Amino acid sequence: MSNDPAFLQTAIDLVFRAGEIQMARIGQDIRIDKKSAIDLVTQVDLEVEAMCRQEIRERFPTHAVLAEELPNDPPKGEGARYCWVFDPIDGTVNYVHGLPIFCSSLALEIDGRAEVGAVYDPSRQELYVAEREHGARLNGIPLSVSSATSQLDAMLCTGFPYDVHRNTDEVVGLFGAFVARARAVRRLGSAALDLCYVAAGRLDGFWEQGLHPWDMAAGALIVEEAGGRVTDMMGGPFDSRAGTVLATNGYLHDEMLATIRGFEASRSRRRMY
Ligand code: IPD
Repeated sequence: MSNDPAFLQTAIDLVFRAGEIQMARIGQDIRIDKKSAIDLVTQVDLEVEAMCRQEIRERFPTHAVLAEELPNDPPKGEGARYCWVFDPIDGTVNYVHGLPIFCSSLALEIDGRAEVGAVYDPSRQELYVAEREHGARLNGIPLSVSSATSQLDAMLCTGFPYDVHRNTDEVVGLFGAFVARARAVRRLGSAALDLCYVAAGRLDGFWEQGLHPWDMAAGALIVEEAGGRVTDMMGGPFDSRAGTVLATNGYLHDEMLATIRGFEASRSRRRMY
């Protein structure tokens, strides 16, 4: 099926506009609020999100928007045939600290499935896009995942959820299980870029729990369209609303699932004694 070309063009226009605003304001004295102890929202997140909502309202008045910072109606985009899923800054904590690993991410879900996705990293001027069944591209060049076939030869990546202070043993324990098996494990601070890096073959696999739809909807489509595999962390079908993701080049998927399952099994055994 071919989508209306206006969908992809809108996704590209809006992530570019987001990047312009992000770069114009980075390092300035902007207002920063705390959503929880370590989860931040800046004035720039809010400005970018308001811009995106307004543009989508004008271009597609009947479509829903599900985005990170402002109230969503319907709350999770439920019941909407067309739902734009947007993160105004993915990597807000990096942005606040001036660490240039952040982006904006926009996907259009039709009947609950991402059909179009765009992620823009303005620090590197890298635009990742994908359309279902039409492949993924980085600045116009087709993307494909890496060819690593074992964790020992793999560069993996993860992120830590904002409740990590309460959940440290589980999150860091699994991180340790991968550190003990992989060539290297990174934690970059932007789930959408982590997914794009799997699509680009820079990373071989990425897992994270505690994510939101706007962190992963576009990136997951970009990985799939680059030839990778995306599931939840237990190997079930990927669902942008379900909170967890395992994205790999495909070859590593079963081995990474076995690491996760092995870690979960050892935790349950420890809890029993
Ligand atoms: C966060 C980033 C980070 C991930 C967090 C996300 P935000 O998104 O993607 O890498 O570890 O779980 O919430 O808050 O910067 O949009």
